[in-house]
This record gives sequence, structure tokens and C-alpha cells, in this order.
Amino acid sequence: YRRLRVALLGAGSVGSQVAALLLRHEDELADRAGARLELAGIAVRDVDATRDVELPRDLFTTDAESLIVGADIVIELQGGIEPARTRILQAINSGADVVTANKALLATHGAEIFEAADQVGAQVYYEAAAAAAIPIIRPLRDSLAGDRVRRIIGIVNGTTNYILDRMDHEGAELADVLADAQRLGYAEADPTADVEGYDAAQKAALLASLAFHTSVPLEAVHREGILGIDRAMMDAARHAGYVIKLLAVCERLADPANGSATGEAISVRVYPALIDRSHPMANVRGVNNAVFVQAEAAGDLMFYGAGAGGVQTASAVLGDVVSAARRHIAGGVGVGESTRANLPILPIGRVVTSY
Ligand code: HSE
Repeated sequence: YRRLRVALLGAGSVGSQVAALLLRHEDELADRAGARLELAGIAVRDVDATRDVELPRDLFTTDAESLIVGADIVIELQGGIEPARTRILQAINSGADVVTANKALLATHGAEIFEAADQVGAQVYYEAAAAAAIPIIRPLRDSLAGDRVRRIIGIVNGTTNYILDRMDHEGAELADVLADAQRLGYAEADPTADVEGYDAAQKAALLASLAFHTSVPLEAVHREGILGIDRAMMDAARHAGYVIKLLAVCERLADPANGSATGEAISVRVYPALIDRSHPMANVRGVNNAVFVQAEAAGDLMFYGAGAGGVQTASAVLGDVVSAARRHIAGGVGVGESTRANLPILPIGRVVTSY
């Protein structure tokens, strides 16, 4: 097999699992990808930090910039805006394809990154950026590309679903279960991103942009977190036959006033909602996520599975790595997918921002 150099940036709960799986399944992945995926190195801030899994020490470096030079595929799992943005642009401009799980970056600088990739015929894969292990980016971007998505209703943050579920079923306190979610590797580095709904809002912006072929800025996403939910509210909801879940709702709205070609606006919002206990969304337990998609021709589709966790998210990352490798082997630009699918075509006139 031809060898492809893979550079990994970040060895947190997801990155260390990605490295371990790349090494453990090297032969099998080579058969699947049609190329040997050679882990050239892992760029980290601290070479001696404790990792979730043991990895060969000589793979680690603090010099991300040099590691990217000559890489065919760069996996960015550092999170945050900088230096992740600079590293991804460096990777794209040096001819690599990029795999990332960085929803915060894509929700704020996605247009810049996709345009940079399109300029040089590189591809940016980000299946792991929304709902972790659940395939949802490709279904929206590719499988439903011929349809018209009308609405997405999702539980897209595993940490808050885990917290709300334990508050509901065990009468637990938010602060105690948040600490467990952090220990289990579900929460973001700064868990306020989870409990205040920022993480869900970033994912909602990504999903809505893909589903509606537009560009939804993060500021346009209405956001409420779960910090206002206490046990008394949980109990009251339960007695009335409801459960409280943090939902992301993205929908096309009739907007005859806006004068756009389609006469439609879109609305994207994240908020804690009361759900009837008999509804399938009410039974999404623990760290699981679910994304319910309504499309005009396809009808109703439901995607369900683990919404956080190191090894679960690593599954989505590795799927993207295999896709990137196949594209390289097939000849790259123009042969495989095009980044164009991610570029907004803006058919929708207005994003509703006040409620
Ligand atoms: N902190 C995120 C969550 C991780 O809990 O959903 C997966 O994106």
C-alpha cells in the first residue's frame, strides 16, 4: 500500500483514543482505506501529561507546525479557536486534507476554512463535530442533498442530557452530576460550554447551515442553557407527564415579508423544553443524543446514539480519516467529494433572531 502521513493535533480524551485505534487497527484500516495510515506524530502542549490511554512517547511533540509539514491528513482535536484555526489553515495550504471535531471553530470560522479548502481543492471532514458517534453531517450534506430539509429537532449535547436524565431519574443535583460528566470525558474542557448551551448552539449552527444550504452565524442562534433547571422543576415536569430536555430546533419558516427567492426564513434555537414522556425524544437516556430530521421527500428520519465520549467520538474521526485516505488514493481533487457542499448558497433570506 501507499503510505499516507497522518498528523494528529491534540491528545485529550478523543485524540488519545484516535491515536490508539490508528495504531491498533493499522492493518485493517490499510485494507479499508487502500493506504497505510502512518501516524507521523502527535502535537501536544505537554509531552508528559497523563493521557487516557498509553501511547508511545516518541510520537509526541510540542512542535505542531513542523509536524503538519508533509502530512497528507491532519487531524485537529485540540479544540478552541486558536491555535486550531491557524493550524488548520496551515494544513490546507500545505496540501493536506483536514479532519476535525472542532464545532466551536467551524461555527465561527467555518466559511473562512471551507473557502480556503475550496481554493486549493482540499477537503475538511467534520463528522465528529456534531453528536459525536452519530453519522449526521454526511446524511445532511450528502444523502439528503437532493431533498429539502424542513426541520431538525435534536438533543445534541451529551453532557446536559446526562445531567438532566440523572436529575430526573435519581433526583441528583446538577453540580454533582456535572462533576461525573467531566470525569467520564463527556464535558467540554470548560463545562460552561455544555450547561449554558454554547456547545449545542454551535452544533445547531453547523447542522442548520448544512440542512438549509445557508450560513447560520452563531450569534443568530437563540440560546438558553440548563443552569436554571432545578429539582423542583424536574419534579413538577414529571408529575405533569413531561421530561425536560435541552433541544436544538432548526426550521424553515414561511416568511412572505422577506422578499427572498423562496419566501422563507430560518430559525435556530437551543432551549430546555418540556417533552411528553411518551415521545421518543423523552426516552433518549444518559449521554445519548438523537437527531430527528424532517425532509420534504424523505419524510421523518431519526438518528440516535452516543453523543459524547472519547472512543465514541474517535469512531467518527476515524471514519473521516478513512474517507480522506480514499480520496487521496483516488487522485484527490475533483475525484472524491468537493468542499463545495459546505459552502453556503444562501437561498434563504432571513435568519430569525428575536422571539
Ligand atoms: N461536550 C460535548 C457533549 C462533547 O457533551 O455533547 C461532544 O461534542
